Amino acid sequence: MRILLTGAAGFIGSHTAEALLRRGDEVIGVDNFDPFYDRALKERNLLAVQAAGPERWHFIEGDLCEQAVLDRLWEFGPYDAVVHLAAKAGVRPSIEDPVSYVRANLEATVGLWEQCRLHGPKRVVFASSSSVYGADSQAPFAEDARCDRPVSPYAATKRAGELLAHTYVHLHGFDLTCLRFFTVYGPRQRPEMAIHKFATLLWRGEPIAQFGDGGSSRDYTYIEDIVQGVVAAVDRPNGYAIYNLGGDRETRLVDLTRMLARALRVELTVEQKPEAPGDVPRTCADLTLARAELGYEPSTPIEDGLRKFAGWFIEHGVQ
Ligand SMILES: NC(=O)c1ccc[n+]([C@@H]2O[C@H](COP(=O)([O-])OP(=O)(O)OC[C@H]3O[C@@H](n4cnc5c(N)ncnc54)[C@H](O)[C@@H]3O)[C@@H](O)[C@H]2O)c1
Repeated sequence: MRILLTGAAGFIGSHTAEALLRRGDEVIGVDNFDPFYDRALKERNLLAVQAAGPERWHFIEGDLCEQAVLDRLWEFGPYDAVVHLAAKAGVRPSIEDPVSYVRANLEATVGLWEQCRLHGPKRVVFASSSSVYGADSQAPFAEDARCDRPVSPYAATKRAGELLAHTYVHLHGFDLTCLRFFTVYGPRQRPEMAIHKFATLLWRGEPIAQFGDGGSSRDYTYIEDIVQGVVAAVDRPNGYAIYNLGGDRETRLVDLTRMLARALRVELTVEQKPEAPGDVPRTCADLTLARAELGYEPSTPIEDGLRKFAGWFIEHGVQ
């Protein structure tokens, strides 16, 4: 297949590109090196992608908000599928700068899908987020749960993307699969995400800021499991579909920090902070639908995933 992959230089994008190249697909990647985190890290991600299939890999630097960039991308078409992972990620920064999140996560998304409508393909996989469930959903979260009370601008842009996806399926006959990723971790994780940030502090011997009482919990998903779900969604177009991709287990913050310190073989110290606004207390994916329709099966327990992350962090991630 020939696949257009947005956000290719990022954490999930670079791993997805590698997996697609390894199985023989041709991948055209695009990314604007959004300054949310260091460009050098994204350039290093791209070196790994390049190595996975240099003859089937093309990369274009550009901002999806610009029509000229979208036009240029289609000069490399036609494509069989589009995997749209590009976005401004992160809950807390979206509270400070909601306008740029709406631009990158919504305007760019509609611009991309308009291009798909006009020139094809109508087969798209879209990165959504567990944050669409908000603070009052009943765990485990099933895809048909009420999702109309997002508690951050980031979550609102992701939910709005899902709603627009429905419109494109309804009006224009797209196959558009929205994947709700649950806290993804592993090598190359974004440096501001909890596990990576905690590892940096622990390694320096500094205390970890723990927001709330540490009883909040997350369904952490190892990157290889997420990539398996993304690739399955590319292969199984299904009209308008939404699937949770989670790790199939909840881990409390207090347990996570203990396991991470053990994986890094360092001592743990914690600094207590009040609950942060925009954070949800608990995430937990119901995977029934993803198992049945995508054949999704997460296979990396958190202990193993943290060990793999720690190995990568010590070799490549220490700053
Ligand atoms: N990592 C997670 O735990 C998680 C959880 C839920 C959802 N997601 C979603 O998965 C996707 C990938 O997340 P990630 O963790 O790999 O983040 P990331 O920041 O590492 O990757 C996103 C990439 O998109 C690029 N980008 C942003 N705006 C762009 C634009 N206008 N034009 C072109 N490129 C642009 C960025 O430069 C970046 O490289 C995002 O859509 C994110 O919202 C991630």
